[in-house]
Amino acid sequence: MKVINLGTKEEACHYVSNELLKQIIENKNSVLGLATGGTMVRVYEQLVNLIRINEIDLSEITTFNLDEYIGIDYDHPESYYTYMHDVLFNHLPSWNEERIHLPNGSSENLQEEVIRYEKLIDEEGPIDIQILGIGENGHIGFNEPGTDFNSLTSVVGLTESTIEANSRYFEAVEEVPKEAVSMGIKSILKAKRIILLAYGPKKAQAIQKLLTGEVTTDLPASALYNHPNVEIILDNNAYLSE
Ligand code: GLP
Repeated sequence: MKVINLGTKEEACHYVSNELLKQIIENKNSVLGLATGGTMVRVYEQLVNLIRINEIDLSEITTFNLDEYIGIDYDHPESYYTYMHDVLFNHLPSWNEERIHLPNGSSENLQEEVIRYEKLIDEEGPIDIQILGIGENGHIGFNEPGTDFNSLTSVVGLTESTIEANSRYFEAVEEVPKEAVSMGIKSILKAKRIILLAYGPKKAQAIQKLLTGEVTTDLPASALYNHPNVEIILDNNAYLSE
């Protein structure tokens, strides 16, 4: 695991958007593993600019998103489907909608949906670069503390701390979904390369625990020590704050 402190949020985001760009340029059939959350907004803004400047065609690129809420429709303003379209997909006309994949949290048969999604990752994958944020409690995707490292895509419950952290996007904490479909930890580790991005003081505690090197299900992100190609990209606040 490589840990890189790039000082500022802007530089940290730029590292990630630039690695995605390089991957897309290197292979126009790349498979990208995408993440949501406030952390990634700037990454996608930068990526949109980079792709426009370089006039890159995205029609053969495949994307998989980590997770989606259960209990809100895909066109709800806070669904991850809406987030991805608002922040990334709608800004670039050459994406092929058929190659854009998010779990369907509105499926009437969630047991079939989780199997379908994992199978699709296996068929279309492996993911070349999986980008990740981190929850304040160390979650990756929506894999909360205690999740088995062998987990595949499944229906997961959100912890109080995650519901609280994500309530900033909803009108009231009661409106935050309590469940999601999430790629599992094993699904995430199938990617060839993983880049985790964390900035700001709220992430410092989780990062500090991660950097102790202890591998424990109490901190889902520590499963990344079991992968040969992981970079942790930080700013000063996530790296230094005690
Ligand atoms: C969310 C998402 C994660 C994300 C994390 C951090 O709940 N499921 O994929 O990495 O929590 O979110 P943020 O970037 O808004 O801090």
